[in-house]
Amino acid sequence: MNRANLLTIALVAPLAAQDYSKMKTDKVFEQLCSGCHGADLSGGQGGSLVDGEWKHGSSDDELLKSIKEGNAQLGMTPFKTVLDDRQIRSLVIFIREKEKQAKEKGMEFPKPEPGKITKTQHEDYKIEMVVEKGLKNPWAIAFLPDGRKLVTEKQGRLRVIGADGKLLDEPVQGIPKIIDHGQGGLMEVAIHPDYEKNGWIYLGFADGTKEGGETKTITAYVRGRIKDGQWVDQEWIWKADPKFYTGAGVHFGTRIVFDKGYIYFPVGERGGWQEAQDVENAKGKIYRLHDDGRVPNDNPKFDGKTPVSGLWSYGHRNPQGLDIDPRDGSIYNTEHGPRGGDELNWVQPGHNYGWPVITYGMNYDGTPITGITEKEGMDQPVIYWQPSIAACGLSFYRGDKFPKWKNDLFAGALAQQEIRRLRLVDHKVTEQEVILKNIGRVRDVTDAPDGYIYVILNGPDRIIRLVPAK
Ligand code: HEC
Repeated sequence: MNRANLLTIALVAPLAAQDYSKMKTDKVFEQLCSGCHGADLSGGQGGSLVDGEWKHGSSDDELLKSIKEGNAQLGMTPFKTVLDDRQIRSLVIFIREKEKQAKEKGMEFPKPEPGKITKTQHEDYKIEMVVEKGLKNPWAIAFLPDGRKLVTEKQGRLRVIGADGKLLDEPVQGIPKIIDHGQGGLMEVAIHPDYEKNGWIYLGFADGTKEGGETKTITAYVRGRIKDGQWVDQEWIWKADPKFYTGAGVHFGTRIVFDKGYIYFPVGERGGWQEAQDVENAKGKIYRLHDDGRVPNDNPKFDGKTPVSGLWSYGHRNPQGLDIDPRDGSIYNTEHGPRGGDELNWVQPGHNYGWPVITYGMNYDGTPITGITEKEGMDQPVIYWQPSIAACGLSFYRGDKFPKWKNDLFAGALAQQEIRRLRLVDHKVTEQEVILKNIGRVRDVTDAPDGYIYVILNGPDRIIRLVPAK
């Protein structure tokens, strides 16, 4: 045997002996890649994978191809016989995460020092503190025409900020029973667009039972009015069949938007994965109803199936951002995907958004989910975020205080602790900019009737607003 053959055996034999299918991606990288690309991915015999420079194409698909097909001439091993598409996709996600970490090391991001001016591409802003103390786990905010604001706290309190800006000690009394469980609790509050005439306030929350050791819950929606600090006149808007209530503590979704007499809202897949694909199952869906809870006659039909009441779109994982484009009425949502698979979707009636059949992400423990990212009959996201940002809160800017941001979309991010501004043209993202970072987990971002942009932060729990620098 000549030397070359020996070398080939030495390289290939240990590869073939290993089962990589259940191995976590960082381990796969350590075993198969770090020898040439360095344990910190900064390069060795093979180039750096974190310097932002890609010789063989920078898109995710091109990276995938580099790993799959290798490059015999340059000495990059082809991995298609050792790893399947799911595993290679997971490696791409892993590389993207490390690339972003390396890029952001030592970078300066706008910090929320009240009064300090932050410059961004189109607008300069200052931060004003709205509520600094007294809130626990604030989740959503809504604005009453008289200047008061309503704030939900996850553990189940609806708080009021007076017109003078002071947070009242007493929460609203008599709201529905909230199940504070895992990621769920009292989540959304929204004001009917004709509130001044009808006084309706809507809540999205984890409904169900907690008895002994057993919890059964799912996202539900009600409306009611507030009179003298009391929740009154309550009506149910949407409630799942009891068989869909579950003990899982994850993926409740939850947001409310109104448009032309309709209400739109999501229910997360509650950890049920495949249930998101079943149109007769309540989980992993976005719904449309008349604002009083009736099912519209022209909601989408599903061949030979009896869809769950109010179904608008399906195949969603954990949607925590939802808003309507003021220019043309298009609906957009953001949802937490698996690791590396957070999505912005253009939500259309009857469409399937693919979870868990297609996704750009992998499991959070670093094991792969699927190798496919596209499939006939399933919509592609407008964009996906790799690495994940933990997308939470989504709002078009309709105000006039920041004219150059008019109709831009603002997306909050829990894990990356940032707000991203997106410009959408013909349902495509033409600009994406981080306008705020490292100020706490962004739970919600929303434009307000006063033209400012309000941001709910967790850890520390605060509410701030962005106002023009001048
Ligand atoms: C035997 C050494 C070796 C091993 C093992 C190896 N690589 Fe490579 N890799 C290379 C070389 C050499 C290149 C080509 C660099 C160049 O073009 O300058 C390369 C290129 C790449 C590229 C394309 C880089 C670019 O600039 O476009 C990617 C992505 C990549 N490797 C990922 C991996 C991953 C993931 C693994 C593990 C599954 C791996 N490599 C294992 C040597 C290796």
